[in-house]
Amino acid sequence: MQFSTFGQKFTKNSGILQLMDDLGNALASDKPINMLGGGNPAIISEVNDVYQKTLHDLVADGTVLDGVANYSTPQGDKGFIDSLVAFFNRHYDWGLTADNIALTNGSQNAFFYLFNLFSGDFGGVDKKILLPLSPEYIGYADAHVDGTHFVAVEPVITECTHEGQAGFFKYTVDFDKLNELDELRHGRIGAICASRPTNPTGNVLTDDEMDKLSAIARTYDVPLIIDNAYGMPFPNIIYTNTTLNFDDNTVLCFSLSKVGLPSVRTGIIVASPAIIKAVSAMNAIINLAPTRFGASLAKPLFDSDEIVRLSKHAILPFYQRQSALAVKLLKEQFANLPVFIHKPEGAMFLWVWFKDLPITSQELYQLLKDKGTLIIPSLHFFVGIDTDHYRHAHECIRLSVAQTDEVLTAGIGMIGEVVKGLYQQNSL
Ligand SMILES: Cc1ncc(COP(=O)(O)O)c(C=O)c1O
Repeated sequence: MQFSTFGQKFTKNSGILQLMDDLGNALASDKPINMLGGGNPAIISEVNDVYQKTLHDLVADGTVLDGVANYSTPQGDKGFIDSLVAFFNRHYDWGLTADNIALTNGSQNAFFYLFNLFSGDFGGVDKKILLPLSPEYIGYADAHVDGTHFVAVEPVITECTHEGQAGFFKYTVDFDKLNELDELRHGRIGAICASRPTNPTGNVLTDDEMDKLSAIARTYDVPLIIDNAYGMPFPNIIYTNTTLNFDDNTVLCFSLSKVGLPSVRTGIIVASPAIIKAVSAMNAIINLAPTRFGASLAKPLFDSDEIVRLSKHAILPFYQRQSALAVKLLKEQFANLPVFIHKPEGAMFLWVWFKDLPITSQELYQLLKDKGTLIIPSLHFFVGIDTDHYRHAHECIRLSVAQTDEVLTAGIGMIGEVVKGLYQQNSL
């Protein structure tokens, strides 16, 4: 069948399609699979119990039916937006009004809007989204309606310790290279975007890095988009001591997915009224209106701050514990090999660097998949980077730690067996 240029772009094999296919197939499979790929949040029983009870009460009093039986405005469910205004103003000094918030069908939907609003053709000038720290979220890569409009600079890689142990590294933004970028200096950047904590690495941009990015965004008069899918105050999977700021040049994107509700498809954009109006207009054309089910379920949890309590006392500790276990298991497997872990600072992943691995991590992905262990190879995360001569981009993998102890143990055991074999062959 023949498709349009748009159709061809959106039906080709993308990294995000491979990832979501693997995830869906693994969840539906009756064969045991060590699912360390994908970004499905964990089932945390203490959290699910609260959702179960809230849903029960909302079904009983008719709130859910009232929500799903009616469209909202294109901006999103008014009751939940009012709750969010009160919630953010209670926790931060941002002075928001309802004109600062729009809902989307998941934050993936929000990035599709924002990237197409701020990059692409601007009357003959091709503007790009600047990703200041690559590797970045794989789901951004194919979001443009027409072509691909990202630019990024390679990160600074610094070896470091973690809780007194060697064998870790951290990425930081290379501000020297960033400030030199032609696209930035010549008006060809439409917005700056970063996930914080970062998917895939678990890095958290420091407050100092954020201040510098905010200053660059102001200097060049472009918005700074922060993807807060894993950040504070929900789901709060962040282990460093950092702050979250908002001003009229910042766009904050939140999601209900990583608090454990990925299929309610609810994203939240906090931004200036002009951006909220634009997003609402796009919602009308693409979705008519965003889904109200997540809004109905979430509203009482935001009104009572239960979402903050759950994030702090159940979600954060769960991921921190699984991350520590995965680090321990990796260290047991790879003592004395050139294997480095990105310092775990947040999100639900570990990013592992197999330095000088004799095959690419894409090939490693296939070997492991054949043996029933799923991971995500690094290449597609280097959005906006020329990876042909950048070996590091072919040497890393992302592991999800949103799994049981048993799956982490079996999966990391399998990775250890395969990777140690590869290093050994290489030294023969
Ligand atoms: C960094 C980041 N941003 C955005 C998303 C999109 O999430 P959703 O559309 O479920 O809100 C994800 C999902 O994995 C993510 O990891």
